[in-house]
Amino acid sequence: MVAAPPPHPEQPTSQSADPRLGRVVLDEPTLQARVKELAAQITLDYAGRPPILIGILKGAFMFVADLARAIDLPLDIDFLAVSSYGATTKSSGVVRMVKDIDVDVTGRHVILVEDIVDTGATLRYLRKHFAQRGAASVEFCTLLQKEDPAGAMPQLRYVGFAVPAEFLVGYGLDAGERFRNLPYIVVLNPE
Ligand code: IMP
Ligand code: MG
Repeated sequence: MVAAPPPHPEQPTSQSADPRLGRVVLDEPTLQARVKELAAQITLDYAGRPPILIGILKGAFMFVADLARAIDLPLDIDFLAVSSYGATTKSSGVVRMVKDIDVDVTGRHVILVEDIVDTGATLRYLRKHFAQRGAASVEFCTLLQKEDPAGAMPQLRYVGFAVPAEFLVGYGLDAGERFRNLPYIVVLNPE
């Protein structure tokens, strides 16, 4: 057996103590309770017409895992990945498919599962994409929706929480691939 290397001296051992993490917006019990409510609603709405949950990578992976476990229906699960060109903490508005789904959605009831809807560019792109694929129905389920003062956002079937227009991390959401594993959601402090 090779001994594990000692922790790097510059790496903090505790992520929750990272000074970049600001106030908690949604704590773990609040998140988990709402995920169960959404799952119960989906279970009712899709009785007799089993849906395909399609998680949008990577941000939705944790939400999909919790949501799927709480849905009491026969369920197919797949994932796709999209990317906004040149995105940092601002969406570029230009969306492209990076990894497509493996299943055929013809005649199926699709639920696209997002972590957060900000400008709505990802959502509009995917709605158009799935409309051309012969799905019987396409709905969106997003954990978070950023408050939109203009009220210009397309209607979504399932929304977990409306959140302030700040950059958030945790529960799947990242900043430069970090913080996805936090079990709660916090504001990222500006540098
Ligand atoms: P939209 O296309 O502008 O609606 O942006 C949606 C995507 O941008 C989400 O799927 C996230 O990946 C990312 N995003 C938007 N806001 C945040 C945030 O506050 N934290 C982390 N990622 C975000
Ligand atoms: Mg995302």
